[in-house]
Amino acid sequence: MRLKIVAGNWKMNTTVEQGVALSQSLLEQISQVPEDVILAIAPPFTHLYSVYQQIVNSRIALGAQNCAAYDKGAYTGEVSAAMLASVPCKYVIIGHSERREYYREDAPILNKKLALALQAGLIPIFCVGERLEEREAGRHFEVIASQLKEAITVLTPSDFSKVVIAYEPVWAIGTGKTATSEQAQEAHAFIRKILAESFGVLAAQTSILYGGSCKSSNAAELFAQKDIDGGLIGGASLQADEFIAIAKAF
Ligand code: 13P
Repeated sequence: MRLKIVAGNWKMNTTVEQGVALSQSLLEQISQVPEDVILAIAPPFTHLYSVYQQIVNSRIALGAQNCAAYDKGAYTGEVSAAMLASVPCKYVIIGHSERREYYREDAPILNKKLALALQAGLIPIFCVGERLEEREAGRHFEVIASQLKEAITVLTPSDFSKVVIAYEPVWAIGTGKTATSEQAQEAHAFIRKILAESFGVLAAQTSILYGGSCKSSNAAELFAQKDIDGGLIGGASLQADEFIAIAKAF
C-alpha cells in the first residue's frame, strides 16, 4: 500500500497572518478528508513556526519549499535542512522546476540537498518534469529518466524508501493546462519503471504525486489512475475549500 498524499506548495504567497488564517481554515475542514490521505502544506520559511504552532497535534503535516545545499555556516540567506527539521517540518520539496530554472539548481546541488534533507530526517518530495519544448520534441521520457538517474537512483535503497516523487510537467504549472489523466498516468508508470530498475519491489511503495494545474475539477480523474498517489498543488492550495476538495477527490 502506498501513502496517498496531497501537498500544498504555497510558493511565495501570503503574509504570515494570511498563512496562519489559511492553515486555520484547513484545520476546520480537515475532518472531511479521508483518514488515509495525508494533507501537507509547504508555506514560506517565514511562516513555518507560526503555522507549526497552529497545526501541531492535528493531522496536517508541515513541509518546506526548499533547503540549503550546505550544512551550516556562512551562507547568508540560506535555511538548512536541520533548521527545518527543528521546527519541526516533516517534508521538504527539492528540485522544483522553478528552483531548477530561476536559481540554476542542477544535479550536484540537488544531490547535496537530498543528502542533507535525508540526514536531517526530512522526507524529500523530489520533483521531476519536462518543459513544453521537450514534450513537443518527444523527449519527455528521456528528460524524466535523466532527472531520476542523476539524483534518485544513486541513493541507497534505505534513503530511497523515504523519498516521495512529484511529476510536474513544466508546461502544466500555473498555466491552467493540466496534463490529461492518460499523459500523467503514462509518465507516472514510466517513473515507477525507472525506479524499479534500480530498487526493484521498493518502487511499488513510492508515492508519486502529480503537479501542474491540479484542481478539484480534475483531481478525481487524476487520482483514479493506477500510478498517481496524490498531488502537489500550487495555486489551488491557497484556497482552503479548494485544497480540501482536492484532498477529498480520492
Ligand atoms: P500549480 O498547481 O499552480 O500549477 O503549481 C503546481 C506546482 O508547481 C506545485 O509545486
